[in-house]
Parts: sequence; structure tokens; C-alpha cells
Amino acid sequence: MELAVLNCSQLVTLAGPRRPRVGDEMRKLAVIPDGALRVRDGRILAAGPRAEIEPGIRPGTSIVDAGGRVVLPGFVDAHTHPVFAGTRTGEFELRAEGVTYSEIAAADGGIRKTVRLTREASEDELLDSARRYQQWFLRCGTTMIEAKSGYGLSTEAELKILRVIRSLGEGAPAPSPRYVPTFLGAHEIPTEYRGRTTEYADLIIHEMLPQVAAGRLAEYCDVFCDPDVFAVEEARAILSAARGLGMGLRIHACQFQSGGAAQLAAELRTVTADHLECASEADIRNLAAAGVQPVLLPGSVYSLGSHGYAAARLMIWLGMPVALATDFNPGSSPTASMPMILSLACTQMKMTPAEAVCAATINAAYSLGRGGEAGSLEPGKLADFVIHDCGDYRELAYFFGRETAREVYIGGVCAYRA
Ligand code: NIG
Ligand code: FE
Repeated sequence: MELAVLNCSQLVTLAGPRRPRVGDEMRKLAVIPDGALRVRDGRILAAGPRAEIEPGIRPGTSIVDAGGRVVLPGFVDAHTHPVFAGTRTGEFELRAEGVTYSEIAAADGGIRKTVRLTREASEDELLDSARRYQQWFLRCGTTMIEAKSGYGLSTEAELKILRVIRSLGEGAPAPSPRYVPTFLGAHEIPTEYRGRTTEYADLIIHEMLPQVAAGRLAEYCDVFCDPDVFAVEEARAILSAARGLGMGLRIHACQFQSGGAAQLAAELRTVTADHLECASEADIRNLAAAGVQPVLLPGSVYSLGSHGYAAARLMIWLGMPVALATDFNPGSSPTASMPMILSLACTQMKMTPAEAVCAATINAAYSLGRGGEAGSLEPGKLADFVIHDCGDYRELAYFFGRETAREVYIGGVCAYRA
């Protein structure tokens, strides 16, 4: 099966070194004006100027006319919590009236509220709601999604969520985005373990993790490491146990406080450290020296009405391969829109549009161990690409609050058409 995409005002390939992009490399998107793409059996066969690609197109090839629009690799969303029941609109309203996220959490709201609803929901109900959100990701041009559990906080409910994540990746007849599953049993202390964090950590280590690993239900393990949630010692024990079972490590670090979590990430050389809004310069330098990749989540800062965005410029200056993600979740970041995240990255963290696109595609793919497969449009890679309704890629971040994707292809098959 061959497919060719012609008439792209800009084919934004992100072709470049076969590793995460750092420093000035983040501004080099390898844009081809009047570009074209050939796809065979779900993979990119060739990407180049139309004049070079067109003569090679074989008879019988399906032609997609991009109509003079921008074509980009599908966004890779490297941090989401997409399986949960209910919403937190009541808390959203309370926050508008001045109550803080931490106050709500301390009063058994926040994550614990979503846990109560998610435990009650059946697997089918959770799959239905997550399929609805999946459509939002697609409509925003996302083709690969890291998906965390974490609203179950019991063995049974965590496994239920991970099975839903596995089902989400099985799409028919239209392809689904590709999911990378992460176990986040250490997202919060469940109410029944209040004051007994060590016992809950033991449950994670001795019961949950072995079952998650045996069922091959997660590639990564994540911990919300914060003095009010999991302290450094507990996070270290959980992450070390996960590593022993062959899982990759990610960590929610320095969302509300600097220090410990970043030091732990550096010590363990986790694959990523996510959030980092409150990380100090010393924390960031530690992470850089340890080769930990930062995943920045400006949607949560925006939605919580805070102003403390992560220090993206310092990280880029230090040569860290910054990635961006939505953090889609019902509490701190209810958005599935990577274009919205690009806008926030440019306006609030002073990343350039090119740096933001790089962070949302190739660098995000590397953060998930998928850099060789996804995140750029190069021969041999997955044909996951999006025709956006604009003529210049900078418009993705510039016009904010709109859905830009016109056609989304996953493995060379149309998964969504506006
Ligand atoms: O990444 N920080 C912890 N977890 C989420 C929030 C989850 C929630 O509020 O439901 C986050 O921001
Ligand atoms: Fe998160």
C-alpha cells in the first residue's frame, strides 16, 4: 500500500541527528517548502521537495493533497493521565473563588475525589470516557500518548486502568493513537492508608508492581514525589523496585517544592523528571549533569492559575533536551491540546515556536524510548503525520485556542478528518 502527500506549504520533517535535540538544534526543524512525502506499508519511504518526490510516485499510489498546508509529525504527548471517571468542575469553581489546589487535596478532594469515582466505574465505562478524550487528542494532532494509571490506588483498580490503557491503543477500523503505558500507583496516598504511607508503598512494591510487570501492563513507573505525597525515601524504594522489574523510570518532581525529588531523579538517573516548576537552578544543573530529560507541563501552571512556569530557557541553555506535554488530567490540567501547550511554551516560557515544536515531537518521542520510530518524518519511521490548517508552522502556537488538525494519519492510515 503506497500513499503520497503532495502540496505541503511546509513539510516540517525534524530530520536530524538520531538522538534528542539540544541547544540550537532545537530550532532546526528541517522544513521543506513545497514538500512531499511517500509512504509504504505504514512507514515513511521518502520526504523531500515535491520536484524530487513526485517523479518516483508509482501508478496506483493514493494521493493526498495537503492543499498548500503545513504537514508535521504527529505530536507526541509524553505525560498524560487520560483514564479517570467524572470531572472536578466543582473544585475548579472553588479555585476561582480563591481556594488552593493543596487545600482541596488536604480536604480529601483533588486526586482522592477522582479515585473514589474511578474505583466505582466499570472497565467499560472508563474505556468509553477515555475514548471520548482520545478523540480530543486526535483532533489536536496527537498520534502518540504516554498514559499513566494513578486514579485507582488499589491493586485491582490500578490494573483495571492499565487494561483500559491497553485497550485504548487497539483501534478499529480507524487506527488509534499509539499509547505508552506508565504505572503511577504512587500518585497519592489513598484515604484508607492516610498516615500509613510506608505501608502503602509496601503494597505498591510487593503486590502492585509484580502484577503490573507480570501482565506487561506498563513500560514505565512514575511517582509523585512531594513532601505532602511520597517523600524521597518512599519514592526511591518504589522506583528502585520498578527498575528491578525492568521498568523505565519517570518522576513528578518539584511541582510544588524544590529539592529532594530532583536530587532523587539525578541519583537514580530516571529517564525523565516532569513538572520542575519549583526546581532551583541547582536542581536543574544536577538533572542536566545526570542526563535526565525534563518534561515540562505549562498547562498545569496555567490551569491552576499560577505564574511559576518552569525555567525552560535555562534548561535549553544547559543543553537539556526539553520535552513538552499536556499533563491531561481532571485536576490540574484538563486539556488534550498540544497546540495550546505550544502557545503557553512560547508566551510564558519564552521558547521559540521551533523549539516548542521540537519539544512536542522528536524530543518527546525520545523521552518515551520511541525516538527511532516517531517524532520526525524520515525514511523508515512510522508514517504518523498531520495536515494542519495553516500555511506556516508558527501559526500553531500563534493562533491559540483552536483545533488546527485537518487530517491525522497513523501508520499511513487516516485516523481523523475534520
Ligand atoms: O501531574 N501532580 C500530580 N498529578 C497531576 C494532577 C492530578 C490531579 O489533580 O488529578 C499532575 O499535575
Ligand atoms: Fe502529571
